[in-house]
Parts: sequence; C-alpha cells; structure tokens
Amino acid sequence: MPSRRNRRGGAAPERGPDLDPEVDVVDPAARFAAARARAQAAKEGRLAEGVTELERFRASLPFRLDDFQVRACRALEEGRGVLVAAPTGAGKTVVGEFAVHLALARGRKAFYTAPIKALSNQKHAELVERHGADRVGLLTGDVVVNGDAPVVVMTTEVLRNMLYAGSPALAGLGYVVMDEVHYLADRFRGPVWEEVILHLPQDVRIASLSATVSNAEEFGAWLDTVRGGTEVVVSEVRPVPLWQHVLTGRDGLVDLFVGEADQAVAGGSVERADGDARPQVNPELTALARDEQRGGRTTGSPPPRGGRRRRGGYPPHRPKHAGGGGADARPSQRPPSRAHVVAALDDADLLPAITFVFSRNGCDAAVRQCMAAGLRLTTPEDRLEIRAVVEAACADIPDTDLAVLGYWEWLEGLQRGVAAHHAGLLPRFKEVVEELFSRGLVKAVFATETLALGINMPARSVVLEKLVKYDGEKHADITPGEYTQLTGRAGRRGIDVEGHAVVLWQPGIDPEHVAGLASRRLYPLRSRFRPTSNMAVNLVGGVGRGRAREILETSFAQFQADRAVVGLARRARTQEEALDGYAEAMACHLGDFAEYAALRRRISELEKEGSREATRRRRAEVLSSLEGLQVGDVVRVPGGRRAGTAVVLDPGADAGLEGPRPTVLTEDREVRRLQLQDVAGAVEVLARVRVRRDFNARDAGARRDLAGAARAALAEADPPARPRGRRRGEDGRGGDAVETVEALRRELRRHPCHGCPDREQHARWAERWSRLRQETDGLVQRIEGRTSGIARVFDKVCDLLLELGYLAPVAADEAAAEPDGRRAVDEVVVTPAGRRLGRVYAEKDLLVAQCLREDVLAGLDGPGVAAVASALVFEARREEVGTGPRTPSGVVGEALRAVVGLWSELEDRERAHGLTPTSAPDVGLALPMQRWARGASLQEVLDEAAGLELGAGDFVRWCKQTVDLLDQLAGAAGEDPRGREVRAAALDAVDRVRRGVVAYSVVT
Ligand SMILES: Nc1ncnc2c1ncn2[C@@H]1O[C@H](COP(=O)(O)OP(=O)(O)OP(=O)(O)O)[C@@H](O)[C@H]1O
Ligand SMILES: [Mg+2]
Repeated sequence: MPSRRNRRGGAAPERGPDLDPEVDVVDPAARFAAARARAQAAKEGRLAEGVTELERFRASLPFRLDDFQVRACRALEEGRGVLVAAPTGAGKTVVGEFAVHLALARGRKAFYTAPIKALSNQKHAELVERHGADRVGLLTGDVVVNGDAPVVVMTTEVLRNMLYAGSPALAGLGYVVMDEVHYLADRFRGPVWEEVILHLPQDVRIASLSATVSNAEEFGAWLDTVRGGTEVVVSEVRPVPLWQHVLTGRDGLVDLFVGEADQAVAGGSVERADGDARPQVNPELTALARDEQRGGRTTGSPPPRGGRRRRGGYPPHRPKHAGGGGADARPSQRPPSRAHVVAALDDADLLPAITFVFSRNGCDAAVRQCMAAGLRLTTPEDRLEIRAVVEAACADIPDTDLAVLGYWEWLEGLQRGVAAHHAGLLPRFKEVVEELFSRGLVKAVFATETLALGINMPARSVVLEKLVKYDGEKHADITPGEYTQLTGRAGRRGIDVEGHAVVLWQPGIDPEHVAGLASRRLYPLRSRFRPTSNMAVNLVGGVGRGRAREILETSFAQFQADRAVVGLARRARTQEEALDGYAEAMACHLGDFAEYAALRRRISELEKEGSREATRRRRAEVLSSLEGLQVGDVVRVPGGRRAGTAVVLDPGADAGLEGPRPTVLTEDREVRRLQLQDVAGAVEVLARVRVRRDFNARDAGARRDLAGAARAALAEADPPARPRGRRRGEDGRGGDAVETVEALRRELRRHPCHGCPDREQHARWAERWSRLRQETDGLVQRIEGRTSGIARVFDKVCDLLLELGYLAPVAADEAAAEPDGRRAVDEVVVTPAGRRLGRVYAEKDLLVAQCLREDVLAGLDGPGVAAVASALVFEARREEVGTGPRTPSGVVGEALRAVVGLWSELEDRERAHGLTPTSAPDVGLALPMQRWARGASLQEVLDEAAGLELGAGDFVRWCKQTVDLLDQLAGAAGEDPRGREVRAAALDAVDRVRRGVVAYSVVT
C-alpha cells in the first residue's frame, strides 16, 4: 500500500477559512472546552435564555463554521432567504442542514431538493443519520419513503409537480433547500428550478446552494425580486488549495505555474489581491513545447528548471506496480499509458485520483489496460474489504444477470483498486464504485464528465487526459468553466492538505492554453427557461392567463433579457445623442441637407445596383456567345487577355460549371483556352474555315497553315455582323434605371444645398449620421424583440393550445360577467383534455397529450403501451446509420406509426406558430422495451438493442424514464371506458418494466 505521507504537508500556503470574530477563542484548548460545554448543554437541553438556533446548531457540529457559512445561516435565522455560491467542497450543505434544523425547531417542514436521484439518496441517508428515519422522508420518481415526514428529500421535479398539483404536503412548509441550483442553466431540466422558485408560496424561505458563478449578484438580485429579502453569500475560498500540474513523458510531473502562492491562486484557492497579476507559466513547459515543435529532442541538456517542485513520476524509473506494460522504450514525447499515469500518481502519493476520459468506451478500456499492465493498488486487507462490500451490494442479483453485466471482470478491477464510472453502468454498480472510492479502497477511477455533475466523490487528484471532448456532434475544447468544475473534485476537505489537477502532455499542447483554462474560473449562470405546454395549462388553470403571463415575465430568463435590454437601451440612447450632434454638424444654411444627402445616397445605391446588373448581363452575354461556338469558327475576342481573332479548335462545351472553355488558335499561332474571365465581351463569329480532322496542334506547320486560312477567310467575309442582342442597353444598365438616375441627378443639382461651399464637409457628417441611424434602428429592433420575449412565447403556446382545444375561450356571456371587462376578452379556461395535459411533465408533453386524446394507446396491452411510451421518451445517442431498427409489428406497429403521424402534424402546427418544434419520437427502443415487458432476459434485450450502443445502465435509465411516463399516462388517461383501459394497461406496464435490473438498481 502506498504510504500516506504528504510530501508537501508543511509547504502548503496558509489558507485557513476566515474566523468568525464573535465566537473565536484564540487558545485552542479554551476553544475546545467551550465547544464541549456547548455540546453538553445542547444534549441536556439546558440552553440559556436568548441562545440562538444557530448556536444550538453549531454545538451539534464536529467542526467550526467558516465565515461564509455563518453569514448564510444568520440570514436564514433572521428570516431571509439566501443564495450561497461557493466552490466544490466548500461546505454549502451545512447551510442547507441549518435550514432543516430551523424548520424542525420552529415546527415547520423543510424540503431538501437535489437535481439527481443519486444525490437525493445520499442526502436522505445523511439526514436520516442526523435526525432519525421517522423524521426524514424521500421522494424521487422511483421511491416514496415517509413522504409526510417534516423533512423530505426530493428531486426538484417532484417538488414542481407537487406545486402544480397543489399537494396537501405543502402545508406547513417553511424552508426549501435547493442544492446545486446552478442546474437552472441546464438546457433540458433547468426550467424546473425556475418554476419552483416562481411558484413556491411567498412565505417559504429558500436556501439556494450554487457552484461559484460570475453573476451570483445578478442571480441574487432576481431572487430578491421574486422571493423578497434574499442575502447573497459568495465565497471563492477553496478550503483545500488546488495545484496545477502537467504530466509529461520526458520530465514526469511538472508544475504548471511557477511561484507557490501564485500557483495556488491560479487553482482558485484564494481571492487574488491583485486582479491582474496572472501567475507565470512554468518555463520548463514552454521549453518542452518549443523542443517538441523543433522535432522532439530526446537528447541534450535538460531545459531550464522553472518549477521548484518536481515529483517522481513517469519516467525516470519504471513504476513498481506495472507488471508487464512498462518495459517498452517509447519515445519520450508520446503520452504515457494509463497504467503508467496511475502508477506515477501513486509514486507521487496523489491517489485516489479521478481521470476524466470523456468516452464510456475509453473508461472501460482504461480499466482493462490497467489490468493488463498488472497494476495493483490494493493490499490483501483492502481486497477482502472490497469483496465484502461488493458481495453485500450485489447479493440479490441473479448469476445469469451478473454474467451479462460483466460482474466478474468488474470485481477483478475493483479488487485491484481500479474502476470505471459512467452512465452506461448499472446504477447499483456505480454506487458501489462511489462508496469504495470514498472509503479509499478504489484508488483510480476513470470517469466521463457526468461524474462532475453533483455526485459527491472528491479525490486527491483529478487527471484530464485531453482538453477536448466529443459532445455527440463534434469535438469541442473544454471551457474554463468545465475545467474548473472537473478539477474542482480534487482535494478532500479534512483529508487532503491540497488537491491536484493534472493535465497529460499531448503532442501540440500549449502550456499557455492550459494556464488560461486553469486561471479563469468563473462563468455566468444563464437561464434556459421557456414556457412549455404543460406549464401553460397548469398556470392558466391556477391563476388565469393574464396573471400567468405576469408571473412568467418575472422569470430569471426575462430578468436577464431585461438587463441586457437595459444595456442595449443605454447604447441606443447614447447613439441617439450622437445622431443629434451629427445632424447639427451637417445643418446647412441653404436648405434641408438631410434631404439632399438622401438624394445622393439614392443615386449611389442605384448606380451600384446598375453596375452589379451590368456585370451580370455581360457575363450572361459572354457565356451565351461561347456556348454557340463550333469547330472552325473564326472569332473576334473583344478585349481581355485574349483580345484579337482566333480559330476555334474545340468548343470545350462540357468543361464545367463556369461554362464552356473553347480551345482556340490565336493570331499569334498559339493554342489557348478561352474562359469567361479572359473575355471582356461577347465573342463574335466573323467567318468559318475547315479544320482538318487530323489537325495536330503541336505541328508548327499545321498551325501556320490554319492561321493563314483564317486570315484569308476574314478578308473575304462581309463587314462583320454584330453579335445578336448586343445593341440594347449597351452600357449594361436597364433603361428605366438610367432614367431614374438621370432624374435624381437633375433634382440633386436643383437642390439649394448643392451650391453650398461647405457641401462636401456637410456630406461627410451626413454619411456618418446615416450609418449610425441604421445601426441604432437595428438596436431598437433587438430591444423590441427581447422585451417580454418570454410572455410572447407563452402567448404563442396558448394560441396553439387554443387551436388544439386544450384551452378554450371563456364563453361570451361569462366574459361579460367578469368585473374586469378589459382582460376578460383575453381570458381562457382549461378544458378537460388540458387538465390531463397538466399531468404530463415529459419533454414531449403536448405530443403525449395528443396521443392520449387520439386514443393511440387504446386496445394495447401492457407491453404494447410500454413500447409506445418508450418511443415518446427515448433518444438514441447517435444517428442511426444503415438500416433502421426492427420495430414491433401488428397493433403496436400501427400505434407507433400513428404517433409519428401525430408528431408530424404537431410539428407543422408548432412551426406555424413560431414555436420550437417537438423533437421526433424515436422508435428504436420500442421492440426491446416490448420484449423486456414481456419477460425477456437482460441478455436477449441487450442483444436486440445492439445497434443502439446501449449499456446495461443506459437500458435501465430508459426503462425508468419510460416508467415515469407510464405513471403519468396512467394519471392522465380519461375516465371513460377507453381511458380506464389505457390506465390499466399503463399500470400493468409499470409493473412489467420495473423488474430485474430495473427494480434492483433502486436503492432505498
Ligand atoms: N466548517 C467546516 N469545517 C470543516 N469541514 C467542513 C466544514 N464545512 C463542511 N465541511 C466538510 O466539508 C466536506 C464538503 O462539504 P459539502 O459537501 O457541504 O461541500 P459543497 O460545498 O456542498 O460541495 P459541492 O459543490 O461538491 O456540493 C464535507 O465532508 C463537510 O463535512
Ligand atoms: Mg453540495
């Protein structure tokens, strides 16, 4: 087992969190005694009068609160909401836990929301440990545990649905913790966060916990407007400083920056005193990059040593762990193998490490490579413990499934301390990896970036193999924000003195680029909010159309757009002022110069148009004259490079897009090709000669003879006929245009300003004025586009819903009865179909509702409904290539065709209303889903779905999403006999899909 010594323990810069002046006791022994006394007092319930809840809470913690935590908790205690933006691992959870504490102390409820189920499970376990299982519940799509408890952990979607359904569980709600609130910027799920923030009752206090963002103040200002008193608490202090390195083939691990303090700053660990001082990139790396450009020097003296610390790494010595893979003598600049990297990190005491690979196959391959290289990072005791954890977690999975899931290979990797972590894995497996990693038993994890989202799995080091990732469509550079988020996992609070980010040296890597990624660490939170059909019916049903519109206008999306508008409007205003100035400068004592300038502009526009038109015509004429040529034509080329007479040897009619390219013999007896750009005007045919079939252009004699014949023919020819159509509009301008320009010119000359001695000076100002006018008009248009943009989309959604009958206009007599006559015209009601749409939260909400209404599901059995439901949620990761997937036949096949038909009709309507169309249903998973629901084995189903590149974990995920939709279908089906039939089939489908791997991957 590698030693746990920390080689730089003492050297790390002092970055202790700020002390709270009010409670700080300088002497550690006294402080300890005070904490003990507080804890004891809390236990015995004998707290002095006036002791605040915060003090009680503090007494129950094993550590002292950081300054930012204290500030945030105080705001909550004082009855305000709070937005906490702090780096990964800073300890934001404590603030959420305090909100929970406050709720319990004040006899109110607290909801703790997390973006993903895995995180909800984690928080649930933590809160149960603290408050007991009877006081803490869990509500995710899959699990309902103790939902009426005073503290409930839930996914954000569950809370949103509760809000729209007016759930009785909301009664008594005092606090909502929104963990990872920066999810608001997520393209697909982000709107849910905004819905929750907008719709929570006003007396509920929200504790929003966010990653560091550059516009926390703006986000806080919005929260303040929509929720009332909200304190913004920003901390940029990373509790564990982060160091940046590059792992090179030649020199091992090299620091990215020189100068210790600066380096930690660049890692985002402390607030920078001087905002501009950028740390210096290690000259050793710059030299390495230069050498590489010169052709990869492998001998000679080492480059200058800029970085003070160098760690043992890859090479100089062969890693002791690598059994077989290290013997090759590879060129020094090639990136080291994965086994070498891990071994090098181990030697440098930098494990446990997460290596981001950005592709699932890459992650799996990395584990195999490490195993093939004989890498082993565990002790015999570790291995026993690992085995015990894995066996306990997987005891209920049958052997047949274990084989399909690759269990044995997976276990072998785990026992060596190596594992992959990505969405293709069975959730149960992923959770085991997380647990073993957190316990320090698994020491090297290869992960896709999904790991960086929300799962609490800190490491000592984070390795980035590449600075480019494939986003499903193209390779894109990692952004500074992503870099920060990924490397932010490094450095475990309370365990590591420092964290380490390691970028692997790649050929062509630019150290300055890495430095740029590592030092700019903040990115703004941008709202992705947009009104959906489901939202529209729920809002209209709850508060009416007019009020709904107003609510949406208070969304963060609109807030941001308005702020942008403020900026644009300010610019427009300054430009208007400048325009006034220009207008003054061009004022002429003789008359209206603006009018005069407009005349000039009009003339020059017409002339430009005219000359463009002339060019176009000329080209057309030349082209048609070239097209008609035949062998033996004696032609005159009027101007251009080939001006003069020539004999056509080959018309070159099929030469290409640019028209024919005839080969000719010129007067100078040279053979040339004519093309469009060589010819200034239409080519005229003046005479004809015979060109012998065996004419040889290389034969000077033959050329001379032919040229002579051409001259003779020319001499005999009649005075040359003009080419057809040449006369009319010879100047290339249409007659009308000429006349207009002439008329305008006359007008110009008659204008009083024409005689002004300062005319040209005025004209220059007029020119500026006109350019700025255009620009400002553009600005004004943009402003108009943005103001109430969200409300306008909402209007379009409502119009479509009216058209489709999910909303209906209020009957005329009812409208008249409205006290507020103005708004009533515009008022609508939600129809029964609309109320059903209100229970469908899927992304394709409206399409699902259409399917229900058109009875697409009627007559299908459970597996059939499951198949159709899968088509409404599934999205293949890649475009299908080659033949399409097999799809169910019979009634299910017909139902799928009907779904596609409804979609295409809906898409037309959405386009007509100017809405973003619903994405197409994907029938790719329908057959595997039907077969799974009918009881096929995991192996059979994965074989059937082979073309989709689905891992077991993906299949489970799609099954769960299908189950989610099936639940919604059951809830939204009508009350008529057909509706009841659909409901029964959907519920049957839920039971059938949620079995085997799908069921046992749910952790309760
Ligand atoms: N004041 C403190 N002193 C010491 N340790 C603390 C303190 N506050 C929190 N911690 C510990 O720090 C670790 C990380 O905290 P937490 O999970 O709350 O971070 P976070 O800010 O939510 O990070 P993330 O962005 O990853 O969600 C936890 O183990 C927690 O117990
Ligand atoms: Mg957190």
